[in-house]
Amino acid sequence: MMRKGTTFTRFIIEEQRRIPNTTGEFTLLLSAIVTACKEISDGVNRGQLINVLGSADTENVQGETQKKLDIISNEIMLKALEWGGHLSGMASEEMEDVYPIPARFPKGKYLVVFDPLDGSSNTEINVSIGTIFSILRCPEGITNPTEADFLQPGTQQVCAGYVLYGPATNLVLTTGQGVNGFTLDQDIGEFILTNPKLKIPTAAKEFAINMSNQRYWEPAIKRYIDELIAGDDGPREKNFNTRWIASMVAEVHRILMRGGIFLYPKDGRENVHKGRLRLLYEANPMSFIIEQAGGAASTGRGRILSVVPDSLHQRIPVIIGAKEEVERVEQYHREMDATLGEQAVPHRQMEPTT
Ligand code: AHG
Ligand code: MN
Ligand code: MN
Repeated sequence: MMRKGTTFTRFIIEEQRRIPNTTGEFTLLLSAIVTACKEISDGVNRGQLINVLGSADTENVQGETQKKLDIISNEIMLKALEWGGHLSGMASEEMEDVYPIPARFPKGKYLVVFDPLDGSSNTEINVSIGTIFSILRCPEGITNPTEADFLQPGTQQVCAGYVLYGPATNLVLTTGQGVNGFTLDQDIGEFILTNPKLKIPTAAKEFAINMSNQRYWEPAIKRYIDELIAGDDGPREKNFNTRWIASMVAEVHRILMRGGIFLYPKDGRENVHKGRLRLLYEANPMSFIIEQAGGAASTGRGRILSVVPDSLHQRIPVIIGAKEEVERVEQYHREMDATLGEQAVPHRQMEPTT
């Protein structure tokens, strides 16, 4: 039987052909990332059968308990990407420092940062999780990159993507020319282009926020969420539905397909006073994808992609999804800051380019 559809391999090779004088290095790097994600998908799928679920009883640099699958997925990414000659370094949620490319392998012009398994608290309960990645250029002349070389604003990303391990495995990707979605055909082991040129529906009906943190929120977030909950009895004059999967990759995927907004704002808790999600390998790649699909991503006080990172594992408030909704949350922050005086030190933003 002939299968219909463009394979991921064909898609990236055809994309490459459209850009004159390319070396193919980027295409091979992407292909290696995708191979790693297929392996992670397999591990996630067979987790319970091969005894890789549960806690590893270790902590990562952020003081979070690591799951066995967090560590395994990180190893899979490192081993799949270190040998190809496309990279000069990698960084990940699960490693405190930059991972240098071992001396026995050639080095290349890119850097990769990733969250090997996002939403890993869901591994034992068979709820969707994912891998998030972001590709940056290694600064000119650098072959042994240090942390400073990774601290590039999200606008500099060459490519961002995620793979969602749900009932189906989806790959969603942008190189700054729109967003394309693929579905893994398990029979042939290839991703097939199933959702070309993804655009976020503009009318939002769903919101995602961890309501249990309500008492720690800033007034702007309280105001926005209160208005959504008030539904057609409130100023929004329509009803909204709520969702919380505890896996950003799954929330963002839903928003991309069905519209809505996701918020993980900064709050009054000591470990969340700068936000919960990490800028380089969670917020930036997701923001790049959502902006490319016609949505917006903000800290509440500025565009996420323009923030100049100050460290590898920096956390950041994330308000992401339908443009109108994100802009409304920003408006509420402006009004709050004007009334109460600036509550937070704004993030360092890039100089606007004209
Ligand atoms: P990770 O599993 O990589 O540590 O990330 C989990 C993140 C994110 O995906 C999710 O939206 C959020 O943490 C869940 O936070 P709560 O624990 O507050 O629900
Ligand atoms: Mn994560
Ligand atoms: Mn993770």
